[in-house]
Amino acid sequence: RFTSSPGENAFQVKITAPEEQFTRVGVQVLDRKDGSFLVRYRMYASYKSLRIEVKTGDKHVAKSPYILKGPIYHENCDCPQEESSAWLEEMKCPQTIPQIQRDLANFPIVDPDKIAKEIPQRFGQRQSLCHYTIKDNEVYIKTYGEHVGFRIFMDAILLSLTRKVKMPDVEFFVNLGDWPLEKRKPPQNLHPIFSWCGSSESKDIVMPTYDLTDSVLETMGRVSLDMMSVQANTGPLWEDKNTTAFWRGRDSRKERLELVKLSRKYPEIIDAAFTNFFFFKHDESLYGPIVKHISFFDFFKYKYQINIDGTVAAYRLPYLLAGDSVVLKQDSIYYEHFYNELQPWKHYIPFKSDLSDLLEKLQWAKDHDEEAKNIAKSGQEFARNNLMGDHIFCYYFKLFQEYASLQVSEPKIRDGMEKVQQPDDDLFPCTCHRKKAKDEL
Ligand SMILES: *[C@@H]1O[C@H](CO)[C@@H](O)[C@H](O)[C@H]1NC(C)=O
Repeated sequence: RFTSSPGENAFQVKITAPEEQFTRVGVQVLDRKDGSFLVRYRMYASYKSLRIEVKTGDKHVAKSPYILKGPIYHENCDCPQEESSAWLEEMKCPQTIPQIQRDLANFPIVDPDKIAKEIPQRFGQRQSLCHYTIKDNEVYIKTYGEHVGFRIFMDAILLSLTRKVKMPDVEFFVNLGDWPLEKRKPPQNLHPIFSWCGSSESKDIVMPTYDLTDSVLETMGRVSLDMMSVQANTGPLWEDKNTTAFWRGRDSRKERLELVKLSRKYPEIIDAAFTNFFFFKHDESLYGPIVKHISFFDFFKYKYQINIDGTVAAYRLPYLLAGDSVVLKQDSIYYEHFYNELQPWKHYIPFKSDLSDLLEKLQWAKDHDEEAKNIAKSGQEFARNNLMGDHIFCYYFKLFQEYASLQVSEPKIRDGMEKVQQPDDDLFPCTCHRKKAKDEL
């Protein structure tokens, strides 16, 4: 850590709804152990207002108690803000997001009538695709391909967004597979395809990964690893971290096999082992035994984290950056939505895709401990400032908004599309008291 904690129980936070007998709000205080705390809450019902009390001992801190004027809606409450500009402002979304500009620059116009025909013809047989239309803030879908289970992640973010804000009418295709699909180059006719992973050899429009998206939507729910929990579980202080480099994962790429071989040759320098064999034949004499999964939080007992591609980009990078170890990242053609904003030697230490300089880079980190620590800190700052839940919501909304503005024909609910239903919320139905945006401000 970079300074120190006053103790994880230094502050008590209580959230109540003044006009209710019970408040169904879960609260967590997360000690980041650098002198700062995160407090988060998840509401299971909607309230007219909330009173937030922050105390140390029996003394209120700063201007506590804070009154949050509402109505404040819980996550499942279907109550969209009509004026997206007001929502964008409340969310403090950036005006422009460079990766969105880069991706959409390949598509000066989008013709929904045309892509509705051409994309299924080109990819519908072989790939797992979802064709979505959002119309009047309702979500419609048609799926192509056999393996469409991952649509739940896309459905979930679209439903969550439409509960919060009025989305533009928009029609688009989502690739549910790992690999980006649009390999054509201009002046060929490019098709806009939304993917969770981009590459320098394709023209897919990249979105935050399903993993990161899910961890945002399920925060304080069924996922334990998310961008906030990870910040409170970063293990020993920098000085006390184990200086063996660390990696765990499955055998989804040849370079991962090379990494484990390297680890077996230099066990005091690298501790890399497989938790699963699936893609290659498991030869124990070469790759050692399969080891038990360890909690992601335990990764941060180690100072040097190796990030190496799997089938595509390794979707753990956001969490690795958010910790306080330094990340060594393999050079790669694959990227998530934020990689192009990262700078080598500032946010991570780069190493070659064939691993030929990995040992050398690890030695550099050991010889330049202060610099390595600063890189760890910059990476962490980047994650805190760019990869949290609000940033993910902003990214998706801006992406669909900007894409929608390129449409030259009307998005339509096509033959064979079905409506994606909002979740039932029988337990805590919500009444929408959303006032007009201008009254609210
Ligand atoms: C550091 O980690 C390595 C590999 O996991 C282990 O063999 C070694 O004993 C650890 N060192 C210390 C000082 O705990």
